[in-house]
Amino acid sequence: MELRHLRYFVTVADEKNFTRAAERLNIAQPPLSRQIQQLEEELGVVLIEKGSRPLRLTEAGKFFHAHAQELLDKAADLKAMTQRVGKIDRKFAIGFVASTLYGLLPEIVRRFRERYQTLDISFHELATIEQIQALKEGRIDVGFGRLKIEDPAVRRVVLREEPLIVALPAGHRLSKTEGPIRLSDVTQEALLVYPKQPRPSFADQVLAIFRERMLFPQKVIEVRELQIAIGLVGAGQGVAIVPKSLQGMVRTDVVYKTLDDPGAVSPIIFSVRQMDRTPELVNMLEVIYEIYDELGISHVKHVL
Ligand code: BEZ
Repeated sequence: MELRHLRYFVTVADEKNFTRAAERLNIAQPPLSRQIQQLEEELGVVLIEKGSRPLRLTEAGKFFHAHAQELLDKAADLKAMTQRVGKIDRKFAIGFVASTLYGLLPEIVRRFRERYQTLDISFHELATIEQIQALKEGRIDVGFGRLKIEDPAVRRVVLREEPLIVALPAGHRLSKTEGPIRLSDVTQEALLVYPKQPRPSFADQVLAIFRERMLFPQKVIEVRELQIAIGLVGAGQGVAIVPKSLQGMVRTDVVYKTLDDPGAVSPIIFSVRQMDRTPELVNMLEVIYEIYDELGISHVKHVL
């Protein structure tokens, strides 16, 4: 059985008609029918109900169709990913979620540039879930995200667990309290979460932290992105739970307070294509750990 057989069968199943499938595949109908027959013989099962018009798949045919489609998608990803890994140009594309720009990403890139002075580095703001697709399509080489999304084609390394803090309007009653704030105090406030789309997102991570503690914010306002959430906090519309590095975004109308909950964290995740060990990636990871060690940030060291 070859990929060709899978492609032929999936096209016939999608078109529900041999003539149209043959046209789409740019081959004559008799060889297409022969190939499907050969496939059924090799499998020893009937995939298409005999004499059905439009064509109907048997149970085995439906099963085979779903798995064949998955294999074809994987083959397409493999092609795009290998082309990207084997590229000869000196390009390196970084996908990132906006909050990492307030953390160590700028410093990491500055140091990485010193090692690769002629490399053409580009930046792509992408949600974690979008980074996975971009890696598979060869549009980026590394992604820095926050969600633990499983995909067999992608290797994830949790760089560190970043504490979450709360952003409050300046002058808010909670901004005046001494010491850290409890998450239960925040539930009485309108909670601004971001991004609204695509989901799952950091918004779901924050809502899950409340839910896991049996806490339910009275009002949740979903906004498009981080800057809008912080801007609306400044305008007194509500409060937001954000990564600690956001403290670097200094505004006179926003006060940041730590939370008294050590489990309220958001991971920073380094995602690359599975088995991709290009020197740029190995070096980037080295630079990250070098900076963590200098700053005394606790982490587990991974190698690619
Ligand atoms: C960090 O803040 O730890 C970080 C941010 C972006 C990329 C890698 C690490």
